Amino acid sequence: MDSIAPMKLFLDSADKSAIIKRFETGLISGVTTNPTLIFKGGYHPQQVYRELVRADIKDISMEITADTAREFFERAVNHSKAYGDAATIKLPCSKEGLSACKQLNKLNIRTNITLVFSVSQAILAALAGATYISPFIGRMDDNSLEGLSLIHDIAEVYKQQYVKTQILAASVRDVQSVGKAFELGADICTIPPKVFDNMYNHILTDKGLEQFNEHANSTES
Ligand code: E4P
Repeated sequence: MDSIAPMKLFLDSADKSAIIKRFETGLISGVTTNPTLIFKGGYHPQQVYRELVRADIKDISMEITADTAREFFERAVNHSKAYGDAATIKLPCSKEGLSACKQLNKLNIRTNITLVFSVSQAILAALAGATYISPFIGRMDDNSLEGLSLIHDIAEVYKQQYVKTQILAASVRDVQSVGKAFELGADICTIPPKVFDNMYNHILTDKGLEQFNEHANSTES
């Protein structure tokens, strides 16, 4: 039987302690960061990456900012040298970002094409050899576009064309979207720590557990 890669969860955060606490569950496979998360947390990018590498996190999306493809490429190679195989280079879905992606692919450096909002962009990212693409479903919904439909549409094209690029659903703001994104063809969902915590919750689990515990205690005593 062919081995099939199972769905994965990444954490979308730059908060080291929040990340490590959830990694200890063994249910998380990677981390995505972005300049806004790092800025809002009052961190420095290098400090965040160093600490996550030290915590043995093996797949960390590190976003590069630059003006030209050459700059993107050079900065990406430096990140790759500094953080080794843990570094996934996050590049924007622009001409320059995709051109750098194509070059990085030749060096076998993992890439994550971010800020994807259309199937055409997903096609270009696949042709550039991206490891992951990040469609931002929440931001599409914010703009009255259907984020989850985009996951479906990209997944259909990738399936038809045997594309290896993995769909990393990003900008996910609630638990329901996680299930839907996987159902529609996402390979990975990157989620804020709070959304991960909420995935455990169900009122019927709480009620059932309360009853089982009560009965277990009664039969033991
Ligand atoms: C993904 O890689 C981004 O960091 C993130 O999911 C963006 O989410 P937001 O739209 O909630 O800022």
